[in-house]
Amino acid sequence: MHICLMEWQGLWLHCILLVLLLINKSRAISPDGEALLSFWTAVVGSDGNLQWRPEDPDPCNWKGVKCDSTTKRVIHLSIPYHKLSGSLSPDLGKLEYLRILALHDNNFYGNIPSELGNCSKLQGIYLQGNYLSGSIPNELGNLSELEILDISSNSLSGYIPPSLGNLDKLVTFNVSTNFLIGAIPSDGVLINFTESSFVGNRGLCGRQINVTCKDDGGGPGTNSQSPTSAQNQGRKKYSGRLLISALATVGALLLVALMCFWGCFLYKKFGKNDGKSLAMDVSGGASIVMFHGDLPYSSKDIIKKLETLNEEHIIGCGGFGTVYKLAMDDGSIFALKRIVKMNEGFDRFFERELEILGSIKHRYLVNLRGYCNSPTSKLLIYDFLPGGSLDEALHERSELLDWDARLNIIMGAAKGLAYLHHDCSPRIIHRDIKSSNILLDGNLEARVSDFGLAKLLEDEESHITTIVAGTFGYLAPEYMQSGRATEKTDVYSFGVLVLEVLSGKRPTDASFIEKGLNIVGWLNFLVTENRQREIVDPQCDGVQGDSLDALLCVAIQCVSSSPEERPTMHRVVQVLESEVMTPCPSDFYDSSSD
Ligand SMILES: Nc1ncnc2c1ncn2[C@@H]1O[C@H](COP(=O)(O)OP(=O)(O)O)[C@@H](O)[C@H]1O
Ligand SMILES: *[C@@H]1O[C@H](CO)[C@@H](O)[C@H](O)[C@H]1NC(C)=O
Ligand SMILES: *[C@@H]1O[C@H](CO)[C@@H](O)[C@H](O)[C@H]1NC(C)=O
Ligand SMILES: *[C@@H]1O[C@H](CO)[C@@H](O)[C@H](O)[C@H]1NC(C)=O
Ligand SMILES: *[C@@H]1O[C@H](CO)[C@@H](O)[C@H](O)[C@H]1NC(C)=O
Ligand SMILES: *[C@@H]1O[C@H](CO)[C@@H](O)[C@H](O)[C@H]1NC(C)=O
Ligand SMILES: [Mg+2]
Repeated sequence: MHICLMEWQGLWLHCILLVLLLINKSRAISPDGEALLSFWTAVVGSDGNLQWRPEDPDPCNWKGVKCDSTTKRVIHLSIPYHKLSGSLSPDLGKLEYLRILALHDNNFYGNIPSELGNCSKLQGIYLQGNYLSGSIPNELGNLSELEILDISSNSLSGYIPPSLGNLDKLVTFNVSTNFLIGAIPSDGVLINFTESSFVGNRGLCGRQINVTCKDDGGGPGTNSQSPTSAQNQGRKKYSGRLLISALATVGALLLVALMCFWGCFLYKKFGKNDGKSLAMDVSGGASIVMFHGDLPYSSKDIIKKLETLNEEHIIGCGGFGTVYKLAMDDGSIFALKRIVKMNEGFDRFFERELEILGSIKHRYLVNLRGYCNSPTSKLLIYDFLPGGSLDEALHERSELLDWDARLNIIMGAAKGLAYLHHDCSPRIIHRDIKSSNILLDGNLEARVSDFGLAKLLEDEESHITTIVAGTFGYLAPEYMQSGRATEKTDVYSFGVLVLEVLSGKRPTDASFIEKGLNIVGWLNFLVTENRQREIVDPQCDGVQGDSLDALLCVAIQCVSSSPEERPTMHRVVQVLESEVMTPCPSDFYDSSSD
């Protein structure tokens, strides 16, 4: 089994939490923080993109957590699309001031904890797209402030509790695609929801869906209570499950702890605990596909080389998988991206799509040279960019990047993206513009990487990619809501990227979040005070006022909350060329004659 660095971070976090909870329970974190740590302890897997620091005094800076600014009580818990698996801790019920609970589109299983009925301030519950089972707790009917309840696309069974009819403020209700049975309560607010709230439950009946209930006394009549036998049975099952899931959680945690210890130990000690995985990938009948004779090697040569790769050759790890450095015998170097999990029946789609991506060549795009189709993984072969990612350059070696270098990188990224949007056929929406997807060559020229990959890996049914959501700070508001990517969502991300390059700070840097903002919120605040120039990194040498103003003007338009107000990438490139770069020829002569 190959485990990449990011995953290790996630595992380590679990370890730290476990140790903290077992040994150091008296640590001074707020009670809400404790409830969240308890929630996190029941999470046994994630995409590794959440780092909650248990040593913080309160959880207010944790990703996905929002607090009331004065009371510091948790009001939002919002971590959708993070591949979280495990059960939902009953301790969520301790978050007395919680208004929004958004854990949708993860892999949670087990029951919906009835303790949620204690969170009396809840206005929105989003749990759709998990594997939750058991019945819908009666107690949810206590949530008098609740406006949105979406528990669709789970494995819930049993009746819809009549208590939900008490939710007077409910405006959105969705229990679609579960295994619910019986009459839909018609007393109270549920009477006004239509078929689209109930689709995909074989056993429901009621006026709302135009199915008459057979009066055989099996289900609750339209006016009667749920049968107590079913409820009791549900309870028994519930406590049984609780025990099992508690045991499973403890077991999983111990396992994780062991793996943490052992794996990290091995990883650190020998640097290659399990180098065979790639070899195994390619040994079982892999084939190499090359584009345009772009790779002057035989399939056999490449596969032989792939078999020698191991952890030592890892150069990066991200949402899409692991990246290895692939050095051929003739001295050419490539970057090999290994993507493991794939939907089934996916191969042909994948190949067609890669064919398109492989045909795109541009000075400001990272060249995809070929791919290897193995039974267990997909291996994409790209040009290796010796300058690494802009993310690293900005946040680890920022002294490298003076004003001109930063402008030049922004220009390159804009041209690469404009090419994808306007000059490719079919047009390509990148969907994951962020600083780690802008790579730098030896001369600090930018190249856009990973274009089109997000689409490849998107969930076919929902058309919502679970991967892009890892990079919250860059996502346009309408994209977060609808999950639909457009050229304008890319433009927004590009605007965020410009702000990141200017400020030297990540979009969700702690200094913004402390103020309850992200980088865009901070910019908007500065704009209202006409202090937008202050967003620039004080470490950055050679800033030029005029081009800064012009660039800020572009960035402000790009991160507009309404897509129509954002410029196209074509327009962005035009403005950058004419107003931001405005290279003064004498400058060039001066510097080159020095
Ligand atoms: N073609 C490449 N050349 C050099 N380094 C690369 C290349 N592709 C990826 N990397 C490095 O590997 C890291 C992980 O890449 P990736 O898996 O795309 O994840 P992400 O883009 O989310 O960081 C990048 O941040 C970068 O440092
Ligand atoms: C929920 O409220 C009940 C009654 O107020 C209380 O007994 C119980 O401990 C609470 N549960 C949690 C998890 O806070
Ligand atoms: C919550 O709901 C349960 C069952 O519907 C009920 O017995 C209980 O009294 C309610 N608690 C509060 C505090 O309203
Ligand atoms: C349902 O809708 C009708 C018409 O809009 C309204 O008069 C009625 O009060 C609603 N019923 C409930 C329980 O909200
Ligand atoms: C409920 O969810 C289903 C499945 O996700 C969806 O098709 C349906 O449109 C939703 N209904 C409402 C009212 O949101
Ligand atoms: C309910 O179904 C019947 C028969 O299928 C149909 O004639 C009727 O128009 C439907 N009513 C509504 C409100 O959909
Ligand atoms: Mg990438």
